[in-house]
Amino acid sequence: MNNFNFYTPTEFVFGKDTEIQTGTLIKAHRGSKVLIVYGGGSVVRSGLLSRVKQSLDTANIAYVEMGGVQPNPTDPKVYEGISLGRKEKIDFLLPVGGGSVIDTAKAIALGIPYEGDFWDFYAGISIPEKALPIGVVLTIPAAGSEGSGNSVITKLDGLKKISLRTPKVLRPVFAVMNPELTFTLPSWQTACGITDMMAHIMERYFNNTPEVEVTDRLSEGLLKAIIDEAPRVLSEPENYEARANIMWAGTLAHNGICGTGCEEDWASHFMEHEISAVYDVSHGAGLAVIFPAWLTYMAEHHPEKVAQYAIRVWNVSPHADKHATALEGIARLKAFLHSIGMPLTFHELGIDEPDIELLVNKLHANKGDVVGKYLPLDRNASKQIYEIANT
Ligand code: NZQ
Ligand code: ZN
Repeated sequence: MNNFNFYTPTEFVFGKDTEIQTGTLIKAHRGSKVLIVYGGGSVVRSGLLSRVKQSLDTANIAYVEMGGVQPNPTDPKVYEGISLGRKEKIDFLLPVGGGSVIDTAKAIALGIPYEGDFWDFYAGISIPEKALPIGVVLTIPAAGSEGSGNSVITKLDGLKKISLRTPKVLRPVFAVMNPELTFTLPSWQTACGITDMMAHIMERYFNNTPEVEVTDRLSEGLLKAIIDEAPRVLSEPENYEARANIMWAGTLAHNGICGTGCEEDWASHFMEHEISAVYDVSHGAGLAVIFPAWLTYMAEHHPEKVAQYAIRVWNVSPHADKHATALEGIARLKAFLHSIGMPLTFHELGIDEPDIELLVNKLHANKGDVVGKYLPLDRNASKQIYEIANT
């Protein structure tokens, strides 16, 4: 097991009606003027935004708001939020929504106190040291941004989708998580979220670090729980317990605990970010296409941990040959993803002729000559994986 620093200071306030505590929580975290950030309108239609505003009114907290954040969020909305936030002298960010809204709010929280261009942080020109505090009201279990220090923004110029990772600066001070708020999620978004959280666990699980049995077992247990709960949450969208389990799984998948002591991979995410940057597909659906392709390549070239995953997560009986064991596990993963309505190929994702050359070029321009750690991918390997996803 490697040395590690596990830091997750977020206060998770989980359960029914918890959104009415938002005002009190902001006060406890010393917010006095808030920028509420939200997306395309689901929180308006559900009445959540009014309830949150009422809670701020009750706590005597002033606020301004900015809606209209789109999935796969882009830089213009961040600039809009920075200038509104500066003009209104806000001191606290309150995203009400999912990963796109939270990540936009995080970028605004970094940009307001910074004299330069916020994109400097995503471009690796500046290291984030301070940001305004962020509190979250979560409406979709998926990206795990409510418990992560990360923010993923696409710069429209060049369609650069970059994941900024900060160990401390961008972790929300609180996250309100009421599973009832997810009852309105369409099954497609629910399934994309399930796929994304499974991928967050698997990016960490596929490593070469020896003696990480505790972390492995945490990850395997969490994956198995998600696999069991997924059909229930899809067939009974208003089943509170199923929604609650999936919601908490989404946070645990990405707050870092599943990577403790391990050297994490993340190649599939970086490969997917190029797909959603260029084709604007849902991140989870892109992962459903790319992760099995990455695993198929690994079954061929580095099957050890894939075989363990097949046996422990998918209950495959071990074959003499690790490659065969691994392939059977991948087949079960694919069958599961199909059963929850996810695509498995570019074609099923709605992209008939993917520009693989462009995806490979962008991937290596953004992430370097080799990508990932389990088996580092050069251009030739990443091209093969995109091609597997296209068959
Ligand atoms: O915009 P509205 O109208 O709110 O609708 C949203 C959006 O269309 C809808 N939705 C959310 N909650 C709902 C709801 N509809 C009905 N009822 C509700 N309760 O769902 C759609 C998708 O929302 P979005 O925020 O885009 O989803 P998600 O949470 O999956 O976030 C995806 C983004 O996060 C990034 C992804 O790349 C993508 O840009 N990621 C962020 C990470 C992080 N910060 O740590 C890690 C991830 O790996 C990921 O890359
Ligand atoms: Zn993800």
